[in-house]
Amino acid sequence: MKTIHTLAELRAELAQAPAAPAFVPTMGNLHDGHLALIRQARELVGDSGSPVVASIFVNRLQFGPNEDFDTYPRTLERDAQLLAEAGCDILFAPSEAELYPQPQGYKVVPPAELSDILEGAFRPGFFTGVCTVVHKLFNIVQPRIAVFGKKDYQQLMVLRNMVAQMALPIAIHGGETLRAPDGLALSSRNGYLSEAERAEAVQLINTLRTVKAQVGAARSGQQLDQAAIARIETKAAAALNERGWQTDYVMVRRQRDLMLPTDAELAQGEPLVCLAASRLGKTRLIDNLEL
Ligand code: PAF
Repeated sequence: MKTIHTLAELRAELAQAPAAPAFVPTMGNLHDGHLALIRQARELVGDSGSPVVASIFVNRLQFGPNEDFDTYPRTLERDAQLLAEAGCDILFAPSEAELYPQPQGYKVVPPAELSDILEGAFRPGFFTGVCTVVHKLFNIVQPRIAVFGKKDYQQLMVLRNMVAQMALPIAIHGGETLRAPDGLALSSRNGYLSEAERAEAVQLINTLRTVKAQVGAARSGQQLDQAAIARIETKAAAALNERGWQTDYVMVRRQRDLMLPTDAELAQGEPLVCLAASRLGKTRLIDNLEL
């Protein structure tokens, strides 16, 4: 695997490749979830000659003023080794000065109905930061395929919409969430948890599983409507908060666009997803479960 730090070198390297790459953008501090995305990209390209490119860049634009930009773990050497073992061909790891040589005044602003809800409601500007850097990385890498984890469910949807509306010739693939044996979704931020918090953290997926069971029960009793959903969401958030969590949201939405399903859609079996974000001590965790 080649590690490349500049746009010029990356462009020169990719110009030699027989086909456009498959791309996995990351912020580093890699875990098995990221490596599964690399393996998925490897499988998608098959023997087409497309190289698999990963990027590592902690993108200041997507962090709020009180978020963890400064403390976000930077572990480039270890990450490079893991990427090489997982079958990555090129690691692109630009410095901030390389990717943002001037303050990034031109931004990609996603539509409010998708970016001001859920994560966007609690992290203003987050999806503008994500779309701006991903669009820029797409322009640099010019991939034909890009893979993003389903753990960041809303991010995946926002990026799919960006690619569709901007007519970018890139096939976006979602990678399944990898979980620890107790069910906790793998995340770079799990490293912030104390031992006691790590033991408690499993309650986030347990809560989503409870929501899934309750939605399933209401559905089989033909009693699933917006009011029932609201009751289930409120109970789920309260259960976490009683255990000492500070919950931003537990919400059941339509899988296709993350909007609230109507009563008619609920009665007709609309595919749903439950999304949650909650803080345990200083660590904010997110997860989701398709229902
Ligand atoms: O999911 C992430 O790690 C980041 O949001 C991404 C897509 C690499 C953009 O910085």
